Amino acid sequence: MGSISFSSSTAAIGLDIGTDHVRIAQVKPAGAGLELTGYGSVEIPMGAVVEGEIVDVEAVTSAIKELQRRSNVRGKNVAIGVANQKVIVRLIDLPFMERAELEGAIQYQAQDYIPMAVEESILDFQIIGDYMTPGDEHMMEVLLVAAHRDMIANAVAAVEGAGLKLTQIDVSSFALVRALMGSGQPVIAQDDEGSAVGVIHISSGITNITVVERGVPRFNRISSLAGNQFTQAIANVLNLTFDEAESLKVQVGLPDVESGTSDVPEGLDPSLVQPVQDSLEREVNKFIAEVRRSLDYYLTQTAQVRTIQRIILTGSGAQLKNLAGYLEKGLQAKVEVGDPFVFVKATGATQQLVGEDRSGSAVAIGLAMGGLQS
Ligand SMILES: Nc1ncnc2c1ncn2[C@@H]1O[C@H](COP(=O)(O)OP(=O)(O)O)[C@@H](O)[C@H]1O
Ligand SMILES: [Mg+2]
Repeated sequence: MGSISFSSSTAAIGLDIGTDHVRIAQVKPAGAGLELTGYGSVEIPMGAVVEGEIVDVEAVTSAIKELQRRSNVRGKNVAIGVANQKVIVRLIDLPFMERAELEGAIQYQAQDYIPMAVEESILDFQIIGDYMTPGDEHMMEVLLVAAHRDMIANAVAAVEGAGLKLTQIDVSSFALVRALMGSGQPVIAQDDEGSAVGVIHISSGITNITVVERGVPRFNRISSLAGNQFTQAIANVLNLTFDEAESLKVQVGLPDVESGTSDVPEGLDPSLVQPVQDSLEREVNKFIAEVRRSLDYYLTQTAQVRTIQRIILTGSGAQLKNLAGYLEKGLQAKVEVGDPFVFVKATGATQQLVGEDRSGSAVAIGLAMGGLQS
C-alpha cells in the first residue's frame, strides 16, 4: 500500500507450500548475481495439502508459523506458488489486439479454453508474441492462466493467518523455470529454434510437467503420479506402513536401467529388494506413459517443435535411485537433474540450511526470484 517500498528491491521471500513440506527461501541481489540469504523447511501434517491443494488451512498456517520460528528468514512479504488441478495454464492463439483490449476480451474468450467456470476463476494472461498466418491474418499467442477462486482464497488465508503479507501469487511451474533456467530473455539461447525443453518436478503429492520453448513456459500439467504413489505401491505389495515403505523406497530405489544391477545398502533384507524394485518399476512405467502423453499433447499443439530432446528433472522425488536412466530410456530424451543454484548462490550457513534439500528447493527459490522482479 505504502508509496515507498524498502523491501522488494533488497530481498524477496518465496514460500512453497508443498504436500508434505512448506519451504521458505529469501533471495537478494549480490553483485551481478543473486544470493540465497535464508532458507528453511518444515513438515506439513499428512492430509493438510492434497494433490497440491490446501484443504486444512489451519494446519498449513501452523506449519508456516513454525517455519518462521525455525528458519533464518525475517520479513513479512512473501510470494507463493500454486500447482494443482485448479490452476490451468493454456497457450492460446487469438486475433491480434492491443493489451488493453485483450484485458477486456479475455473474460469472454477464456471460457472456451478452461474447464472451470470463468465466474469462479481468477484470470491472468501474458502475451508471448504475435505472428502472421499464411493467409495474412495477424494473430497473437497468449499464455492464459486461470485459477479457482476458492483454491486461491485458501492459500491466501493460510499465509495471512501466519501474519505474512502476500505480494504475489505465481504459477509454481513458472517459478521452477525461473530457478532452473534463469529469468533473462535469451534463457536457453543455446537451444535451437524448433526445440523445447521439458521440466519435470516430482514432489510427494504432485508432479509438475512443463514445456519451455525459447525461455517461455508454454505448457503445464499437474499429475498426481508422484513420490507418494511410488511409496504407496511398495506399501501395498509388501503390506507395510507408509513410513516403512518410504524408507525402503529411498534405500533401494530402481536398479540401473541397462545392467539391472543395484547398489543396495548393507543391513537391508536382500529378499525385499526385488519386490520393491518391481513395484517401483511398474509405477515408473506408468509415470513415463503419463509424461509421454503430456509431451505428445504439447507437440501436437505446436507447429514448430517436433521433439523434446532435453528434460530437466527436479523435486525431491527426482532423487529416486536410477530414475533419470529410466526416464531417459522411456522418453528418448536426455535427462539431467536440475540445479536451482545456478542463478542463485548459497554460501556458508545458508548452504548448510539447504543441506540435503537442494533438489526440493527449486520452487521456493524461483518464487523469491520472481518477488525481486516485481
Ligand atoms: N532419496 C530419495 N529417493 C527417492 N525418493 C525420495 C528421496 N528423497 C525424497 N524422496 C521423495 O520425494 C518426495 C518429496 O518431495 P518434495 O519435493 O519434498 O515434496 P513436497 O514439496 O510435497 O514436500 C517424497 O515422495 C519422497 O519420498
Ligand atoms: Mg517434502
